[in-house]
Amino acid sequence: MIAAKPILEAQGLTKHFRTGGAVSQRVVKALQDASFQLYPGKVTALVGESGSGKSTTARLLARLYEPTAGQIIYAGRDTVEDKGRSKLLKYRSEVQMIFQDPFSSLNPVHSISYHLKRPLQIHRKAQGRQMTEKVHDLLHTVALTPPADYTPKYPHQLSGGQRQRVAIARALAVEPKVILADEPISMLDVSIRMGILNLMAKLRDEQNLAFLYVTHDLASARYFADETMVMYAGHIVESGGSEELTQDPQHPYTQLLLSAVPDPARGLRTQETEIAGEVPSLSEVGEGCPFAARCPHVMSRCREAMPPVTRLSETRWVRCYLFDEA
Ligand SMILES: Nc1ncnc2c1ncn2[C@@H]1O[C@H](COP(=O)(O)OP(=O)(O)OP(=O)(O)O)[C@@H](O)[C@H]1O
Ligand SMILES: [Mg+2]
Repeated sequence: MIAAKPILEAQGLTKHFRTGGAVSQRVVKALQDASFQLYPGKVTALVGESGSGKSTTARLLARLYEPTAGQIIYAGRDTVEDKGRSKLLKYRSEVQMIFQDPFSSLNPVHSISYHLKRPLQIHRKAQGRQMTEKVHDLLHTVALTPPADYTPKYPHQLSGGQRQRVAIARALAVEPKVILADEPISMLDVSIRMGILNLMAKLRDEQNLAFLYVTHDLASARYFADETMVMYAGHIVESGGSEELTQDPQHPYTQLLLSAVPDPARGLRTQETEIAGEVPSLSEVGEGCPFAARCPHVMSRCREAMPPVTRLSETRWVRCYLFDEA
């Protein structure tokens, strides 16, 4: 079941990057016409191959990129026109991002204590003695205990998993409503990945946080995410409950992706989601479905226009002409 109201919503969200010089300008269509919702207390996974536009989607939602088109609706209000510093600061405190590499997202010259106090100061969440208490609370939340062992340390004195826990604690410092986690476990040792996913699941349940979980690994999406969206070459092509979607994929691309996953028993070991054929260059994708060139069911209209969203159930939809009645 889906909670009644989304906290963050994308409507027709689109990002085109212009690259190259004036003569050889190319447009990279990194995200096209994406509409989806994130709900409090739910994890939504965004799964796709490398270069499909996952990070671009997360960065747009974090307001690190300006969208080319579309709306980003936070708590019922479009935020795209909010460009002033104080509005962006407020938005970015409520919608926090966690990155793939915890080492580069922490500053090597500052202690863990500094990393956690800084957002508390900037967003005026605590002062004086309260500050130390709050820092200890945050470290408790992410299971870095006893906190006093960690506060004086520097990032290089921690393991990869501990650094990612610090990055999560820092995101939590400003009491966010939404966390956008861009491949948060893919650089960590296999043995500690599950611990980080379980920590995030605990935060979802205890703090009612909405998560966007970006991954190229369907197995971890199925394990951790309530809903899964499948992305291909800049388009979200299918979305639904993670269990249902992985058990009974509808879009030909999702079907191919799942048939390429070698062995579910391998659990969270990295399963590079690579399948036969080439992902089209994002500067060459035309008006049609980007999967048309590799699709076993391709029809002529697939090359002409992107299929509309077809709803299969309350929680499930697909963009494919195989399901389009019109
Ligand atoms: N700042 C940018 N300027 C120009 N092109 C960009 C920029 N950021 C991303 N792109 C392009 O947009 C496309 C999508 O990139 P994105 O990083 O969103 O993919 P991804 O799905 O996160 O891939 P990965 O799994 O490798 O992280 C790529 O072709 C990429 O080169
Ligand atoms: Mg990425």
